[in-house]
Amino acid sequence: VIGGGNIGGVLVQEIARRRLARAVGLMDVLEPDFAKGKCLDIAEGTPIVGLDVVMEGAKDYSAIKGADIVINTAGVPRKKRPDVTIPTREELLKTNLGITAQVAKGIQEFAPNATVISLANPLDAIVYTLHKKMNPPKNKLLGMAGVLDSARYRYFVAHAAGVSVDNVEAVVLGGHGDTMVPVRSCCRIGGMPVEKFVGEEELAALETRTRKAGAEVVGLLGSGSAFVSPAWAALEMAEAIGYDRKKIIAVCALLEGEYGVNGLFVGVPAVIGANGVEKIIEVDLTPAEKDALANSVNAVAKTCKEVDEMSK
Ligand code: LAC
Repeated sequence: VIGGGNIGGVLVQEIARRRLARAVGLMDVLEPDFAKGKCLDIAEGTPIVGLDVVMEGAKDYSAIKGADIVINTAGVPRKKRPDVTIPTREELLKTNLGITAQVAKGIQEFAPNATVISLANPLDAIVYTLHKKMNPPKNKLLGMAGVLDSARYRYFVAHAAGVSVDNVEAVVLGGHGDTMVPVRSCCRIGGMPVEKFVGEEELAALETRTRKAGAEVVGLLGSGSAFVSPAWAALEMAEAIGYDRKKIIAVCALLEGEYGVNGLFVGVPAVIGANGVEKIIEVDLTPAEKDALANSVNAVAKTCKEVDEMSK
């Protein structure tokens, strides 16, 4: 795990609790030796919960040496400004781009064969940057956004319909920004179309809430952004890889012609297994959903263009 902040902390805890790995390494540059402290805290609790998972923290990338899966959380989160406005994820680009350059170097040096799941924002542009810097096989680099965005949509819909979250299936496509596309035509409750349970107007409001859900949490927390749900979302991906589950999960993956997009990382459903992104699935979209996706892809392209310019 790269980055021992809020998300990284939950990740290490949950990896241990769920026995997702025999060993977990945490890297964080924070002084005096934050990552070591974080790991020692969790490790000292393992006898209480009966776990034998090796945990090691370090200030450098040696912490991820030989890892099969690397989860990257390194970067600053969004924070509510003193004037109570909330920055966009894209506004984090400049700061997080510099951090990402170090991340790419560290992975290349210590875990060049790992499958990399990245969470840092702006999500799609940071995954694009990692790809440009490391040029890994395309199946081995993926971003976490779709699971979280879909989970938020599912949660809101389940609540509105008065049913278990287990019964709600949903997909959110596109970039992890305000243009993301909750795909209503894919949303099902107990196998039935969502419209059977929730009215048109309420659904539209839930979809708007989904697109802005990250900012809603930032506004409420005050001190940073969501971290438990993003960590759980990344673990859904890591678990599908670790156990070769062939699970269909919305992930940020490199498109090479799918959805008419070439050379960009965008959120799409894919079969996730031991080989990472094993197959991208093209959803049959309504004309309105197609337009919304094109709009979202344009937003991703714009941020990636900024990456290209800043990297010159
Ligand atoms: C969110 C951040 C983590 O959506 O991107 O909450």
